[in-house]
Amino acid sequence: MKKSDFTAVVPVAGAGTRLRPHTYTYPKVLLTVGNKPIIGHILDDLAAAGIKKICMVTGYLGDKIKTYVSSAYPGLDVDYVEQPEPKGLGHAIWMTRSRVTGPMLVMLGDTILSADLSKFLGGREDCIAVKEVPDPRRFGVVEVKNGYISAMVEKPEKPRTNLAIVGIYSFRNSSQLYGSLQRLVDSGTTTRGEIQFTDAMAMMVRRGHRIKPVKIEGWYDCGKPETLLETNRFILGRGAGGTMRHSVPKASGTLIVPPVYIAPGAEVRDSIIGPHVSVGPGCRIERSIISDSIINEEAQVSDINLAGSLIGPSAVVLGRRYKLNVGENSEVIFGTGDIAPGT
Ligand code: G1P
Repeated sequence: MKKSDFTAVVPVAGAGTRLRPHTYTYPKVLLTVGNKPIIGHILDDLAAAGIKKICMVTGYLGDKIKTYVSSAYPGLDVDYVEQPEPKGLGHAIWMTRSRVTGPMLVMLGDTILSADLSKFLGGREDCIAVKEVPDPRRFGVVEVKNGYISAMVEKPEKPRTNLAIVGIYSFRNSSQLYGSLQRLVDSGTTTRGEIQFTDAMAMMVRRGHRIKPVKIEGWYDCGKPETLLETNRFILGRGAGGTMRHSVPKASGTLIVPPVYIAPGAEVRDSIIGPHVSVGPGCRIERSIISDSIINEEAQVSDINLAGSLIGPSAVVLGRRYKLNVGENSEVIFGTGDIAPGT
């Protein structure tokens, strides 16, 4: 079985509610992290692993995803399936049943990795990525016996292990998986109101199907503002040494503290940028100090000190500039003045 035989199924239909307000106008996978949208990193990983066929399940703001993918990845063979209603991850994968034959790699649309995907494409066994996490209750959780998965439960209240399902799964024979999904759909079996992908795999395991857990370390979530910024730090950091450190076009009086990504065409003046800042194309930044932040395309930021911030596309953030005329021995204290005068 060659890597190029695999079809990658990438579900990107979710509404990304935990990333509002950004996801009111952008699907989550189009949010920028590092030097490109989340989905760009995933497509790069798939292409680097030798995958040639991709099937994306779109739903919420799917047209924006299609527009981005066709303009940024014109050479990629991407097929789209629409999930009209959000009925769960299992349902999203089931929607692809007439498009995929043969081996299949499922990669969730918010999974950025530092792992080598070839672990999932070589060998003869079906496998899924897992990671030990301190609190696995918001994930699918697996139990392992003799090197294979013996049970799996979606978001259990009382997890029996701390091995969480990461979001990469590979199946040598996709028709077995579709068979399990079909049973769930036909019987209307849901967990937490949704047709769960984990339930379909749990059914396969109960019927004696062998799935190997593959532990991975580098798993970067993009589901919440804090984790998006954490992933941004990771991506900028791994680009250190070259690709991420763009020279600052039109920069004047600006100090860059790497790692930083500044898109060509962004204008930065009289500022201190970094570490861990991503600046999109067409941004204008003036007289500001920015660290650990993502500033999306066409945003305008002036006269402000920002850290840990997400600034949406075309947003305008104008801080303050003061003009003072203060004489000798005067004291000017903005704020509550927790520095006592005279100290
Ligand atoms: C999905 C899966 C879950 C997995 C998680 C990884 O959940 O259903 O088993 O652990 O992705 O991110 P979701 O995050 O879509 O609720």
